[in-house]
Amino acid sequence: MNVVGARPQFIKAAPVSAALARRGIDELLVHTGQHYDASMSASVFADVGLRSPDANLDVGSGSHASQTGAALVGLETLMLDQRPSAVLVYGDTNSTLAGALAAAKLHIPVLHVEAGLRSRNRFMPEELNRIAVDHLSDVLFAPTLLAQSNLESEGLGPFTMLVGDVMVDALRNLDRREPSGAWVSESEEYLVATVHRAENTDDRDRLADVLEALSRLPYPTYLAAHPRLVSRAHEHGLSELLESGSLRVRDPAPHSGFLAAVKNSQGLVTDSGGLQKEAFLLGVRCTTLRAETEWPETLEGTWNVLAGGRLGELSSLVQRDTESVQGEPFGDGLASERIVEALERMLSD
Ligand code: UD1
Repeated sequence: MNVVGARPQFIKAAPVSAALARRGIDELLVHTGQHYDASMSASVFADVGLRSPDANLDVGSGSHASQTGAALVGLETLMLDQRPSAVLVYGDTNSTLAGALAAAKLHIPVLHVEAGLRSRNRFMPEELNRIAVDHLSDVLFAPTLLAQSNLESEGLGPFTMLVGDVMVDALRNLDRREPSGAWVSESEEYLVATVHRAENTDDRDRLADVLEALSRLPYPTYLAAHPRLVSRAHEHGLSELLESGSLRVRDPAPHSGFLAAVKNSQGLVTDSGGLQKEAFLLGVRCTTLRAETEWPETLEGTWNVLAGGRLGELSSLVQRDTESVQGEPFGDGLASERIVEALERMLSD
């Protein structure tokens, strides 16, 4: 059973699902329904080449407890009914936690893709999800050496396999396809921005500071409006700021079109974890609207800098120089093959 729920998980699961199909392993693809708007769900499936889910639990939005609880109940029912031989979960969302917990309590082996990340910020719900899921899982697929050593230091070394990062696999697959839609005017120099983390959106003053700093940037700044950003800006009476100064709001774009826009930009400003890494892999300067990152590998050569507490300096940070050489901390693009090989070995034991 492959469990997904939020947009980044559709991207990560796509290469794994394809590798399962190539090896003839039966896959039950389950969508918890954590993300449900067409732009956050159905169109992402289509864009990354992930087949339609076999089941959708429609859990929708809610508090952490209600969303995780609904996914837990739905997944447990499905697992009892379908009796999967193993459950694959991805990343650090509430859907990941629900999938790992439901399976572990039914004694179904749990395999965690993208294990071992740590931001060391326990105020982030995702950090709590990561820690809990890693300790519930039977097999931990670490994307990087640092993730592997984080797991070792928590006593989880014996369950850990360094496989590389499935986002590299995903990016290679996307590279072979045409970008599916123009999202910016490519005749100009521009920046791309995204903001969706609770720490940047839930507090009114923080959100106002972030939007004001973005509106003062020296290039037109295309802001991909995550539904959480739009709804919090509306609740806080800050909707006008979304369109002020250099800011140009856009609906979330198809993934490949969005990455094409990032690739051709002067830089990305974001608080997303996955996008910090995608910018690094595309060789684009990233400025992160957080004080820490679970992907410190991206800080190499100042390809990424942390600007969480330095909003006043944002304009100069986005124009900084980067080193020209990059290492390859995220692996070779064959992570999904290694994951499915490990799964096959586990199933045949
Ligand atoms: C979730 C993940 C986060 C991940 C992000 C990717 C958790 C704790 N967080 O955050 O790790 O980086 O997904 O996007 O699991 N909404 C809609 N339509 C949708 C989905 C959400 O309008 O299809 C709005 C609702 O107002 C909702 C809010 O966005 O309350 C937040 O959605 P939610 O799934 O709870 O968290 P994300 O911020 O998307």
